[in-house]
Amino acid sequence: MDTHESLLELIGNTPLVRLRTPGDGRHAPVYAKLEYLSAGGSVKDRIGLRMIEEAEKSGALKPGGTVVEATSGNTGVGLAMVAAAKGYRAILVISDKASAEKVAALRAYGAEVLVGRGGLPAEHPEHLFNVAARIAEETPGGWLAGQYDNPANPDAHYAGTGPEIWRQTDGRVTHLVSCVGTGGTISGTGRYLKEASGGAVRVIGADPEASVYGGGDGRPYFVEAAGHFRHPETVEDIWPKSFHQDVVDEILSIGDRESLLTIRRLAREEGLLVGGSAGTAVAAALRVAADLSPDDLVVVMLPDSGKQYLSKYFDDEWLLRLGFLDGDASLPRVGDALPAELRERPMPYLHHHSTVGQALDALRARRTDGAEPVLSAGPCPVGPGRQPAASELVGTVSLEQLEAALSEGRATPGDPVGDHLAAPLPQFGSGQGAEAVLAELAERGLGTAAVLHDGYAVGLVGPAELRALLDG
Ligand SMILES: Cc1ncc(COP(=O)(O)O)c(C=O)c1O
Repeated sequence: MDTHESLLELIGNTPLVRLRTPGDGRHAPVYAKLEYLSAGGSVKDRIGLRMIEEAEKSGALKPGGTVVEATSGNTGVGLAMVAAAKGYRAILVISDKASAEKVAALRAYGAEVLVGRGGLPAEHPEHLFNVAARIAEETPGGWLAGQYDNPANPDAHYAGTGPEIWRQTDGRVTHLVSCVGTGGTISGTGRYLKEASGGAVRVIGADPEASVYGGGDGRPYFVEAAGHFRHPETVEDIWPKSFHQDVVDEILSIGDRESLLTIRRLAREEGLLVGGSAGTAVAAALRVAADLSPDDLVVVMLPDSGKQYLSKYFDDEWLLRLGFLDGDASLPRVGDALPAELRERPMPYLHHHSTVGQALDALRARRTDGAEPVLSAGPCPVGPGRQPAASELVGTVSLEQLEAALSEGRATPGDPVGDHLAAPLPQFGSGQGAEAVLAELAERGLGTAAVLHDGYAVGLVGPAELRALLDG
C-alpha cells in the first residue's frame, strides 16, 4: 500500500521546482521550495509539529493539554492542525484586524479563537502576546508555543528543511534565499546548509524595504508575515530569539511593489500562486542569480499559497487604490495632478501627540484653510524618503474645527490633537483615473484627498487640482 498512517507524515518534504529566470542559461538556476504543498498549506506546519513534539518530550505539554499561541497567520493553522490530529485543545489569540477568512480557517480546525486588540505596543498588558501568555498560565495544562523565541522553530528547519534541500539538490545548492519573520526558516535551514557544505553555502535574507532587519525604519508595509515592523511606541525593539543573525550573510531589501508584481507574474507566467513574502524572496533570488554563473544553484523559499490573499495582492482594484499599479497611462491620472516638486517635499501633517495649541500654531503658520492629515506617532519624522504609510493617516484637523472646539469648551489648548480628530482623508492611488476620482469626490461630498504611491502618501489633491489637470 502507498498510504500514510497520519496526516502528520505529510508535513514538509516539499518539492523544489525550477523558476524561469530572465537570461536563462547565462545565470544561476533558481529552484523554488513550494512550502504551500505541505499538509496545512505553509512552511509553518513544520514548526507547529516540531514545537508540539518538543513540548511533549519535555513534559511541558501533556495529554489533554491546551496549545496556546498569539497568531492569526500560518503558525496558527500549523498548530491548530497538529493539535487537532493529536487531540489537543488549541486556543489562538488573534488581532481584531485579521481577516474573517483567517478566523474561520482556525475555527474550522476546531481551535478556540479569542479576538484581541491589534496594534498595541509590546509593553501593553493587552498586547496579543501578553494575553496569550496569561491564558497559557491560567489554563490548567496550558502550554504557550511562543514561535518567536522557541528553539524548536529553527530546529524544525535544521532537522527538516535544510536536509531536504541538500538531498534534493544533491549537495549542489550554493545560495539560500528566504524571508525573515520569526527568523526560524532562515536560521535553521541556513545553519544546516552551511554545515553540510563546509561553510560554502551563502545565506541571503529577503526583507521588505521598511523592515528593520534590512535597515528600514520599521514603518508599516504591505507584505504580510515577513520582516519586522516597529510599533511607533515600542520602547525597546527586541528581535526574536528564533532569528540567528550570525547565519545570514546578507539582507536584500525589496519594496512592496516589486514583491507584489513578482507574485502576479509568478501566477500568470509560471502557474505558481503564492503569497506576498514569496514575492519578496523570489525578487531577491532573481537579483542574486543574475550575479552568478550557471554552475551556482539558488534555492528560494516560497512560504505559502496566494489563495489567502486573493482579495488583496491579486485584486487589481486593491492594488490600484494603494498606488501599486500605474493605471492607464493614456488618460490623466491622479498622480499627474501632483506637481513633481511636491512629491519630493514631505506632505504637510500633524502628529496625534501634538497639542491642540501646537496644531493651531502650525496650521496658522502654514495658512492651511482645509483639513490637514494627522498621523499616528511614527518611529522617525516624516520627510523625503519617509512618506507616511496609508494606515498611519488616522484622521484630520482643520483650523475651523479646532477653533470651534476651543470656543465651545470641548477642547483645551493642552489636549492631544488626537482626541479631536475628524474623519481621515479619502485615499486614492496615483494610477487611478483623475476623472473617476473627481466624480467620486463630488459624489461623496469630499474635498482634499491623499494620493498614495506604493502604499505611502505622497501628497494631497483636491477637486481644483484634478479639474486643472483634466482641463489641461
Ligand atoms: C507567509 C510567510 N512568509 C514568511 C514567513 C517568515 O518565516 P520565519 O518566521 O520562519 O522567519 C512567515 C512566517 O510567519 C510566513 O507566514
